[in-house]
Amino acid sequence: MKPSRIELDNLAKIAIEAALLGGSILTDYAQKGFEIHKKSKINLVTEADFASEQAIVGVISQAFPSHQVLAEEEGLHTTHNSPYKWIIDPLDGTTNFAHGFPMYNVSIGVEHEGSVEVGVVLDPTRNELFVAKKGSGSTLNATPIHVSATPKLDDALLVTGFAYDVHTVADNNLKEFCEFSLRARGMRRTGTAAIDLCYIACGRLDGFWELKLNPWDTAAGKLIVEEAGGRVTNYNGEPFSIYGQDLIASNTLIHDEMIDVLANVRTE
Ligand code: IPD
Ligand code: CA
Ligand code: CA
Repeated sequence: MKPSRIELDNLAKIAIEAALLGGSILTDYAQKGFEIHKKSKINLVTEADFASEQAIVGVISQAFPSHQVLAEEEGLHTTHNSPYKWIIDPLDGTTNFAHGFPMYNVSIGVEHEGSVEVGVVLDPTRNELFVAKKGSGSTLNATPIHVSATPKLDDALLVTGFAYDVHTVADNNLKEFCEFSLRARGMRRTGTAAIDLCYIACGRLDGFWELKLNPWDTAAGKLIVEEAGGRVTNYNGEPFSIYGQDLIASNTLIHDEMIDVLANVRTE
């Protein structure tokens, strides 16, 4: 059975509490400094990623001890067979964070039987809190948000990102980036997939595509886009799975044009 409205409110309350705690830990580390390590040549991880994750998981485990938790740095904690799974990126935008570029976030999604029912993204650098509950719309700092009305790709501001294997694989999104650069009004690369999704949801951006994202990058943001009236699919226009590889998110109006551009450039 689907969670009731009261259950969704309660899940969202704890997700917000955990995101605020994670966000305050990131802000502290940004001020006092932190150690940086490399997961691979260009994939960084900092002390702040781990500290934020530990605090977030602590809040969730205390409130819902039987729920499953999938967190980027520690993986899946699952001692119970719960229908609920919390999906956490304790610091989305680690490269920005490590360089002092002030754009990063905490992202928390809550799945129930495979469907994301609650999404929370906190950008502590701007004090912006995005929240979605399935069936209840999306908000930014408690005000309802909606995707843009940009009608076509020519007039669109697009965003994308690049996976950490960009230096070493042929399917690295550079051809797609060049093609969209010649088609859209403008292009951005924020370095934070969850914020890219939230900016589609509130109309600051019109379309987003990316390859090889992880469930913690997209769980919260997918719901935030959909509840704000947007569309999220894979590159073929099929329903997007947060466990899948390819994502297009848009205001719906430019979605089919984006599918066509990607299909053409990827078969050349
Ligand atoms: C990364 C960011 C980036 C995206 C990468 C992600 P991280 O997450 O969201 O925008 O392009 O694919 O891995 O590593 O900073 O949590
Ligand atoms: Ca991430
Ligand atoms: Ca991360």
